[in-house]
Amino acid sequence: MPITIKDVARESGVNISTVSRALNNGYGVNPETRDLVLAVANRLNYRPNRVARGLVTGRSHSLALIVSDIRNPFFADVARGAADAARNESCDLVLCNSDLDPARQMEYVQSLLEKRVDGILMNSVAALSPEDQKQLAECGVPIVLLNRSAANRAFSTVSADNEAGGALAAQHLLELGHRNIAHLTGPRQHGNLSDRTRGFVQALLAAPRPVTPIVLHGAFHFEGGRELTAKLLDQHPEVTAIFAANDVMAFGAVRAVLDRGMRIPDDLSLIGFDNIEFSSIIHPPLTTIHQPKYEMGQAAVEILLRLARDKTRRTPESRILGVELIERQSCGRRS
Ligand code: RIB
Repeated sequence: MPITIKDVARESGVNISTVSRALNNGYGVNPETRDLVLAVANRLNYRPNRVARGLVTGRSHSLALIVSDIRNPFFADVARGAADAARNESCDLVLCNSDLDPARQMEYVQSLLEKRVDGILMNSVAALSPEDQKQLAECGVPIVLLNRSAANRAFSTVSADNEAGGALAAQHLLELGHRNIAHLTGPRQHGNLSDRTRGFVQALLAAPRPVTPIVLHGAFHFEGGRELTAKLLDQHPEVTAIFAANDVMAFGAVRAVLDRGMRIPDDLSLIGFDNIEFSSIIHPPLTTIHQPKYEMGQAAVEILLRLARDKTRRTPESRILGVELIERQSCGRRS
């Protein structure tokens, strides 16, 4: 039989409420009694029943993070930041991977609500349908959308300044003298990726000698980057520089370029987005736009916990974190 709070109370010679307050650092317990209760609980190997406690307090001390693609190391850093922020507040973080499947994402939301998580942080796979938005807005648990801009007024959001990041990539390639430029990205109308595209295209068009880039849409993972680059190089051999919408797509581009016996940056310059750890390790090290991934995870959990604690808070909160160009060796000068 598992040891219960009643066993600890009997062995300590105090009542259940005193044990509960002693274990939870509550008020009105003298230090000697607290030490005694803790020693007894320890000796009996007592584990509090968090589910039972959650029924009383209405809180499970569990938060959830639904990522869209666990293969992308971007999410490992976000998850670290989120888990650390949750841990600081004595909460666990449950991680779910929707694997780029919108249906699976909403199944996870249902299942997490049934498990009574205190809040859900999600990086939605694609634009949320009106039905999904309604379901989330009415679910009774705070939701924070990751990588979505503040334009989404129904929910609190955390994202990097994607538009500014796209513009930084464009300015860098223009400064290096590139005129035949391509951008490889994910599906059309994809929240944060569309913002990057907009910033990139607008900065190229605003240049003293405007450039119209080639924009190709595909899957935003390694294989998608490889396929789009192969297609681009077949159709547009004149291209001298590529901006990939994220680093894993850029790695796919590196694969496709190497497969053709071409060299980076001598034959083709390449810039990514995210600054995941591997981008500094590959050869040549990848020039990219840094997103503060860990801090984004932290910020999202802080907002989530504020919303969970203060149920009267109705106005969504939005945070946009700054981005930075990280110059390495994958971009070269064109005369
Ligand atoms: O949705 C995945 C992508 O969006 C990541 O690679 C990162 O760029 C994020 O912002």
